[in-house]
Amino acid sequence: MGHPYNIEVELTQNSQLEKVDFNNLKFGQILSDHMLVADYDDGEWKEVKIVPYGNISLSPATSALHYGQAIFEGIKAYKFEDDRVSIFRPDKNFERFNKSALRLEMPAVPKEIFIDGLKKLIDIDRNFVPNTAGASLYIRPYMFATEAALGVHPSKSYKFVIITGPVGAYYNKPLRVKVETFYTRAAAGGVGFSKNAGNYALALYPTKLAQDEGFDQLIWTDAKEHKYVEEAGTANLVFMLGDTLVTPGSDTVLQGVTRHSIMDIANSWGIKTETRDVSVKELIDGIETGQVSEAFAAGTAATLTPISEIGFEGKVYKLSDPETRTFSNRVVNYLNDLRYGKIEDPFGWNFIV
Ligand code: COI
Repeated sequence: MGHPYNIEVELTQNSQLEKVDFNNLKFGQILSDHMLVADYDDGEWKEVKIVPYGNISLSPATSALHYGQAIFEGIKAYKFEDDRVSIFRPDKNFERFNKSALRLEMPAVPKEIFIDGLKKLIDIDRNFVPNTAGASLYIRPYMFATEAALGVHPSKSYKFVIITGPVGAYYNKPLRVKVETFYTRAAAGGVGFSKNAGNYALALYPTKLAQDEGFDQLIWTDAKEHKYVEEAGTANLVFMLGDTLVTPGSDTVLQGVTRHSIMDIANSWGIKTETRDVSVKELIDGIETGQVSEAFAAGTAATLTPISEIGFEGKVYKLSDPETRTFSNRVVNYLNDLRYGKIEDPFGWNFIV
């Protein structure tokens, strides 16, 4: 049997590759030459195409723009020293994407489009995958409702798109984060676990207020009491509490692939791990008593970014010097070696294109 989706390819006549300064990459400013676009209508995925990167024309009544049926993912691809390209755990993002789709009453995207389409796209734009230290190709799959209608109902049509671009670090210094005890990111029974556009929009204003006070990011807390730590909005949170690596576990938190990988690596090294509620009190007391020896943000874009200071109720609590953190530094080096193909991949996480 042939592939159920025929992925048509139209190559660009106007490559931007020559203009890319691979030694000076920021995050999310450069886009590769091609994108994958698939359209859903009448209950099925129809056209799937890889075309030159370019604008998409939309009706002003496009329902995603009004009612927010819009979800996305973040994945990275790395270049090995022998020039092979590897995508890191796209199967996990594929699973999470369809969980987000279900929650927002959007159609599932088939594996043959998400994974096979992604492989084909990365193969075509493989020269955009950087081979410079710390750099990677960021992959952004997303889907949004395209029906031109102003009634509130699930859209009848959708567009699935994958764009990519070479990136450097998302954060280039340790983070100063503030515990948010007034605004809420997600409540039980809501959409906190899903990667929908609205979760990012609602964070912008409270984050801006914290940035005005000199912080980089927020630590979101639970909606009911603001007593339990959740996530940073742009990444998950992980703490070394005593001899145990701990990450908040509620379903109001995005189930991050990077954090999951870090917990798995820690387990394989014989380090105890726990996914459980962490109260703000446990965290702050732990910093004061030295029980919390390490804290970091973990995400695809953020990779592992150390947290250097935590603000809570007008006070700032300083953590250990990131340079001296045994686990964080060990796991960053290990993850980098694995993703750049410098060591064996005992977990089967590298997806070679
Ligand atoms: C990612 O880590 O891939 C995300 O989507 C988070 C975003 C803040 C860039």
